[in-house]
Amino acid sequence: MAWPIVSIREISRYENQEVELRGWLYNKRSSGKLHFLQIRDGSGIIQAVVFKGDVSPEIFERADHIGQETSLRVRGLVRADKRSPIGFELSVKDLEVIQEAKDYPITPKEHGVAYLMEHRHLWLRSVRQNVILRVRHTLEKSIRDYFDLNGFTLVDAPVFTPAACEGTSTLFEVPYFDLGKAYLTQSGQLYMEAAAMALGKAYCFGPAFRAEKSKTRRHLTEFWMVEPEVAYLDLEGAMELAEGLLCYLVDQVLAKHGSELETVLERNTAVLRNTKKPFPRITYTEAIERLRAAGHPIQWGDDFGGDEETVLANQFDRPVIVHRYPASLKAFYFKRDASDPKLALGMDILAPEGYGEVVGGGQREDDLATLEQRLEEHQLPREAFTWYLDLRKYGSVPHSGFGLGVERTVAWLCGLHHVRETIPFARMMERITP
Ligand code: 4AD
Ligand code: MG
Repeated sequence: MAWPIVSIREISRYENQEVELRGWLYNKRSSGKLHFLQIRDGSGIIQAVVFKGDVSPEIFERADHIGQETSLRVRGLVRADKRSPIGFELSVKDLEVIQEAKDYPITPKEHGVAYLMEHRHLWLRSVRQNVILRVRHTLEKSIRDYFDLNGFTLVDAPVFTPAACEGTSTLFEVPYFDLGKAYLTQSGQLYMEAAAMALGKAYCFGPAFRAEKSKTRRHLTEFWMVEPEVAYLDLEGAMELAEGLLCYLVDQVLAKHGSELETVLERNTAVLRNTKKPFPRITYTEAIERLRAAGHPIQWGDDFGGDEETVLANQFDRPVIVHRYPASLKAFYFKRDASDPKLALGMDILAPEGYGEVVGGGQREDDLATLEQRLEEHQLPREAFTWYLDLRKYGSVPHSGFGLGVERTVAWLCGLHHVRETIPFARMMERITP
């Protein structure tokens, strides 16, 4: 008889039927005539009960000795069970070991994070890491859906670039044949500006690289960023776009993962459910006043670190938008505020509960002569930007955009202290393996 091969996620459709599951042993306990095997198949976990009277003596014996993460095929009857977290368990009739695993390095006991990061290729199999990976998947899919639904065209930006976009101090250099040096991209933004002039609304979604010498819980050297760019959009429009995106993303993730966020990750989702428009908007200057009033020793003109972002975010019940930073703190491409040229038309969105800046962007300088002057002030090589300056020669228009970091957003959604758990294989100053 052919047993249907099913995944644990869809097990409820097979009540009182005999099925085959293909997966791995997650955990096991025994009591005399019964072995309780926790089987995982990537889609979920089910308890498979091996009763001495139901199987051959060899299989009963075998089931008692297989190690954690042994790959196996089990066949049995799907039974409803109220005590099961998924509502069903399997009464095993047959069991076949595919490869017997011995001494799996990650046991159900607690391991330190350094050890787990060293075994990241295996750690991904845990229930917790499964949930985080799935939330990341849903976030990335929803990002694409949002832009697709709103008339954007996906335009892939190059990874090898000739110049800095976000400051020369965080560039990764790569030898590049006879042309000398190339740099791994810090941001696809400059290319999206070209794309916005071609398509109106464009976005790129890919990896970005920063040689950040900061070992904080929010920094990776390789991270994923989505960057929309829109022609004829001003700073206010960019804030609205980012606000709409964040609300959509939170809704989608809560709809698909609300219960596993709460049960597996113990995330309090009440705060997330508060992510509704409008987000409060404060100027940088007001942010400085708020920080000083809260006893923070900061001066107008100083940049915010993680601590300042946390103090500010804690004053609001949803993400907060901080706009009009001192131009001296920002990249060369920002347009200045016409009513105060010391200010850049930039904005950051700070996530609640101390998860920090998840979005950064603003309005771009669209005047040729001003942009040429900025390149000089920032001591950037003009040759590398000739093509970018062309965008201001041939039909320049006001335009804006932003970047949203996937890892910081996942950290916030999942309630994770450090971004290292939000990306399958984290790259940090002190880590390049596995
Ligand atoms: O604020 P950033 O540096 O902005 C840009 O790169 C712009 N060119 C984007 C644009 O306007 N198109 O980075 C944007 C976001 C941050 O808010 C943060 O979420 C994330 O990217 N990010 C990082 N995430 C992890 N590790 C790092 N080292 C990050 N640097 C930035
Ligand atoms: Mg930023």
